[in-house]
Amino acid sequence: MFSFKKKNSKNKVFNPEKMLLSENSSFSVLESFKTLRTNVTFSLPGLKNRCIGVVSANRGEGKSTVSVNLAISLAQIDKKVVIVDCDMRIPTVASKLGMENRPGLSDFLAEEDGYRELPVVSNLDFNIDVIPAGTIPPDPTKLIESPQMTELVKALKVVYDYVIVDFPPVTVVSDAAMLSNVIDGYLIVAMHNSTGTSQMDETIRRLNFANANVLGFVYNSKPASRKTYKKNSKYYYYEYR
Ligand SMILES: Nc1ncnc2c1ncn2[C@@H]1O[C@H](COP(=O)(O)OP(=O)(O)OP(=O)(O)O)[C@@H](O)[C@H]1O
Ligand SMILES: [Mg+2]
Repeated sequence: MFSFKKKNSKNKVFNPEKMLLSENSSFSVLESFKTLRTNVTFSLPGLKNRCIGVVSANRGEGKSTVSVNLAISLAQIDKKVVIVDCDMRIPTVASKLGMENRPGLSDFLAEEDGYRELPVVSNLDFNIDVIPAGTIPPDPTKLIESPQMTELVKALKVVYDYVIVDFPPVTVVSDAAMLSNVIDGYLIVAMHNSTGTSQMDETIRRLNFANANVLGFVYNSKPASRKTYKKNSKYYYYEYR
């Protein structure tokens, strides 16, 4: 049993350098996320409440950036959204949003039986709810595969239009695939000049093995050279395929 009593984030400072969507984002960034949002919205027909997992093959390919910005983008069209930081090893969702990372998911899941309060925090800057990763646990995978985790995602799907789950990399740990029974669809982020074809093959193979539903791919371009970046200020580009 747990309650949905929400807290508001006390820390209202967020840093635009953390690459969050805002009115100052470049046209190409705004358009890319609108396209991603539209495609996600039209995917999974027939489902009212959707749980989307965001994965990639390796570390640092843009999963958390895509997760947070997709959540912000969906909130901009008045969807009720919660983002869950399931990367309990190297969590970044809370810090990207200028929030505290604790208490969070791990603290909630590690709690023994009984009444538990869900560590959901409202981010008033972006109108999204956030479940931070929490205290770094000794064995995150054990928490991910617990029945409480499955129950939590199911419960969130009742309350929210979109549950966005930010995962650690698929070729490094098996956490993402473990939740394939409750994640309605996965987005795979591929980073330009970083994600190798064999790593992508392995990612897809592992997700397929778990009977996961892959919705599509987000192509994240690497920053252009410093010179180009300064000239165009369009260092940040996403495409949905
Ligand atoms: N298109 C981009 N242009 C420039 N920097 C980017 C881009 N996408 C991501 N980054 C930066 O790269 C770093 C890694 O991004 P992010 O944290 O989103 O990746 P991740 O896949 O979640 O990493 P991890 O596997 O460690 O959780 C961050 O500092 C982020 O700001
Ligand atoms: Mg991340």
